[in-house]
Amino acid sequence: MRLAAITSVGHFLPEDRLTNFDLEKIVDTTDEWILARTGIRERRILRDPTKATSHMATEAAKEALAKRGIPAEKVDLVIVATVTPDMFFPATGCLVQKGLGIGGSSWAFDVSAACSGFLFALSTGARFIESGKHDCVLVIGADKMSSIVDYTDRNTCILFGDGAGAVILEPADNGCGIVDSLEFSDGSNWESLCMLGGGSLNPTTHETVDKRMHYLFQEGRAVFKVAVEGMAGVAEEIMRRNGLTGDDVRFLVPHQANQRIIDATARRMGITMDKVMLNIEHYGNTTAATIPLCLYDWESELREGDNLVLSSFGGGFTWGAIYLKWAYDGRDVSTIAAEIVEGSA
Ligand code: ACO
Repeated sequence: MRLAAITSVGHFLPEDRLTNFDLEKIVDTTDEWILARTGIRERRILRDPTKATSHMATEAAKEALAKRGIPAEKVDLVIVATVTPDMFFPATGCLVQKGLGIGGSSWAFDVSAACSGFLFALSTGARFIESGKHDCVLVIGADKMSSIVDYTDRNTCILFGDGAGAVILEPADNGCGIVDSLEFSDGSNWESLCMLGGGSLNPTTHETVDKRMHYLFQEGRAVFKVAVEGMAGVAEEIMRRNGLTGDDVRFLVPHQANQRIIDATARRMGITMDKVMLNIEHYGNTTAATIPLCLYDWESELREGDNLVLSSFGGGFTWGAIYLKWAYDGRDVSTIAAEIVEGSA
């Protein structure tokens, strides 16, 4: 079977920052509380009301394609993981296709798996490469969480930010790529983390809006317990299945929901924190975007053959892990940017 490898990474982060000090002015909280309980200092917010998730997803995809030096027309399939689609339908993936100018020559769909969205989408995209059906799949994690966050609720508004990350999947020619994946979900406790309003169960009415049902709801403490067990357990399991020890792993790439959950996962895997990608401090929880944003930020440190373990936990509940061998030597973003400018000149 041929392996599916990530061959490029792109990203989009809005410029506006919402710091803990800004939040102190909005709700009853403190910078110390937020930092100690979550590890977050600031998040990015997409303030332009005319732009939504598809905009961030398209920009991230454009960057990934430009860095790889391939035209959008090469893309066979676009998968967008998100819980904040521009609208119920069409799928955000179709809007990304439009933005890339590849409507009709490719196909697209969305994946709804909350914070495990990117991991599930990556696993799904890989199957299309492995089977030989496609040669180029764009996998994007993008969320405009500020559109569903209640900025009067101190339990949740401190956690989330906006952003997008995109990767290109292609057949590997060097034995690298996605080696193994584990995916799980369980709707038994769906009420702990959900958005109740606006769907077919509670269509939007004045009453649903008055009850603030169009915002994300989370029972933080209850989710915390299962998140620690889910993310650490699945990471440990994928290492065991593949005979990996902590020494074999170059980086853990965890979903960024809470630094304490990430610390616990690293401890269970037997790896030190210098081998953990951690950027929650700057972006908060961007839901489907956290893992590709980590890959983007650490790309220049990655080398061909590096063992990475991706791990996530999110609403649903959904959780999973991917073991992959990184397929190329990462380069400094400024070098690539210079090459792109040169190439287009
Ligand atoms: N500032 C100050 N105090 C606060 C704040 C705040 N922003 N928020 C809550 N508190 C208070 C609470 O009211 C509570 O007070 P009480 O003891 O008087 O009742 C106290 O702080 C402790 O609250 P907890 O909820 O127990 O705090 P905890 O340590 O659990 O941290 C947090 C809360 C950060 C939300 C944590 O529970 C967490 O990270 N949960 C898991 C999140 C997660 O992994 N989600 C899945 C992915 S997200 C997705 O899929 C969309």
